[in-house]
Amino acid sequence: MWKLPVIIVNFKLYHSGSGERALNLAKSLDRVAEERDVSIAIAVNPLDFSRIRDEVNIPVMLQHVDPVPHGAHTGRINMELAKESGVEGLLINHSERRLTMADIDYLVQRARELDMVSVVCTNNARVSGAVAFLNPDFVAMEPPELIGGEVSVSTARPEAIVETIDAVKSVRDIPVLVGAGIKNGNDVKKAIELGAKGVLVASGVVKAKDPERAINDLIDGMM
Ligand code: G3P
Repeated sequence: MWKLPVIIVNFKLYHSGSGERALNLAKSLDRVAEERDVSIAIAVNPLDFSRIRDEVNIPVMLQHVDPVPHGAHTGRINMELAKESGVEGLLINHSERRLTMADIDYLVQRARELDMVSVVCTNNARVSGAVAFLNPDFVAMEPPELIGGEVSVSTARPEAIVETIDAVKSVRDIPVLVGAGIKNGNDVKKAIELGAKGVLVASGVVKAKDPERAINDLIDGMM
């Protein structure tokens, strides 16, 4: 499992986080992770996975995997293929790619069997508590209305962070990450002070003019 606290950078389908630009971004995040001796993981598009995987030491995750076995499925990717391709972990149930509870359960259990890290995204404390019963490696709570915005979860919804950590802890001891609107070291610092074990960030790094400077600022908040 990854060293904590961790920063997961979701490249989404941003132009600056895909194609050759994804490789450059991944390399600079990898360099910063090593220089500053901190835990960073990235979640990339499946088309970019293989161009990045062998070029960096940080964990490279997928943003979504379909809950299906091998067989007659068109335009899908599954856990077995992800494992065979060297995927170390995956985001499950991101707000931009919601799944049913049964699908989440399938992916979390399969991730465990295949020795892959599962990060289940949730939208609030109640769903986080429910997901904790499935025993993923991480629960990552992101209020959907704050995703991609300028105001962070730490500033706008600190009570939601505390409630989420309590809800998860009442089921089992799973590290909770938080995300949405994370833009600077202060956002990270507050989240960690409230009990989060790391953050999930996208636009604050991927769309930044200077992503290396942006990630360094976030790391300052972890120190
Ligand atoms: O997966 C992380 C993401 O949903 C948060 O996005 O742009 O608010 O950092 P952003």
